[in-house]
Amino acid sequence: NIIPVIMAGGNGSRLWPLSRVLYPKQFLRLEGEHTMLQETVLRLTGLVCTAPLVICNEDHRFLVAEQLRAINQLTGNIILEPVGRNTAPAIALAAMTALAQGEDALLLVLAADHVIRSPDAFIQAVQAAQVHADAGKLVTFGIVATAPETGYGYIRRGAALAQPGYTVAQFVEKPDLDTARHYLETGDYYWNSGMFLFRASRYLAELKAFRPDIYAACEQALGNPSLDMDFVRVDKTAFMACPDDSIDYAVMEKTQDAVVVPLDAGWSDVGSWSSLWEISPKAADGNVQQGDVLYHDSHNNYVYAESALVSLVGVEDLVVIQTKDATLVAHRDRVQEVKKIVDSLKRDG
Ligand code: GDD
Ligand code: MG
Repeated sequence: NIIPVIMAGGNGSRLWPLSRVLYPKQFLRLEGEHTMLQETVLRLTGLVCTAPLVICNEDHRFLVAEQLRAINQLTGNIILEPVGRNTAPAIALAAMTALAQGEDALLLVLAADHVIRSPDAFIQAVQAAQVHADAGKLVTFGIVATAPETGYGYIRRGAALAQPGYTVAQFVEKPDLDTARHYLETGDYYWNSGMFLFRASRYLAELKAFRPDIYAACEQALGNPSLDMDFVRVDKTAFMACPDDSIDYAVMEKTQDAVVVPLDAGWSDVGSWSSLWEISPKAADGNVQQGDVLYHDSHNNYVYAESALVSLVGVEDLVVIQTKDATLVAHRDRVQEVKKIVDSLKRDG
């Protein structure tokens, strides 16, 4: 049996001003009629699995419940973190909850903020991964690396396995630029998509081996998981004491039991406005727009108009994001630096 575990606790600050602390990107409708969280759930149609287990910050509990209810997927399975401690603890809480509910299922760990253009190819990859996960492996889904991105984990593939997939010769989380360039030149590298498939007990065993401190803190924070309406509560004091770490550093870099299954499904982690422009269908002039937008002689812009008409005249390669209380105008090549604005806003309150 497969239980989808949807991680929805990040804050997506590079998509400011649309993405806010109170409203991070996974809860946004970036295109089409559904939010990223809803898309993540809906793309599982066609996979034989249970209803998803969602794990998010407790501040977002009503947002999550409402978005799931709107697509008829409210399951009574939303784990609430009192604070963010990154993905290694989040997944541990999910694995422990699954086990407490009586089943050592395969966990399909998904990020709530990725775009996947071909759900069919994605489901096929999950099915290919299932034989490996059944055999006790920790499977990651690898995207052929095409640029020296430093925001991703890199996987050097080892031997081909009898079933589609490869052993993981090496897993390096977020290398520096020179290292990433070197990996790209040598070939044989995948990006870690940040999605995983493994048995709940296998993840917990590896976590316990490599990070017994995280394992113990999560075990204590969960206690006997209590179901409060639709929510699984986590003890605040105990979870505050949990070290902060991602699954990539805590487990995937260290385990000897990883397998990579290639994924070619139009995946993007939509980390920035320019990546959103890149993956969006464009008009002949290269513009991408949402909302009320008028152009004259303008090309290759990404424009989001939330509550007012936005018009562009004679400009290229811009990102223009209009929201009720903030507007961003940036060059498409510089959108990584939006983080600087967010940081200065945080500093100045
Ligand atoms: N519940 C919960 N709690 N979810 C979290 C937390 C947390 O404390 N922190 C992050 N998440 C969620 C985010 O919302 C996102 O859906 C997912 O977990 C991954 O977290 P990111 O913070 O976006 O990770 P990343 O993008 O820097 O790196 C990961 O993804 C890359 C691919 O997009 C790594 O797995 C990389 O190796 C990978 O290449
Ligand atoms: Mg991410």
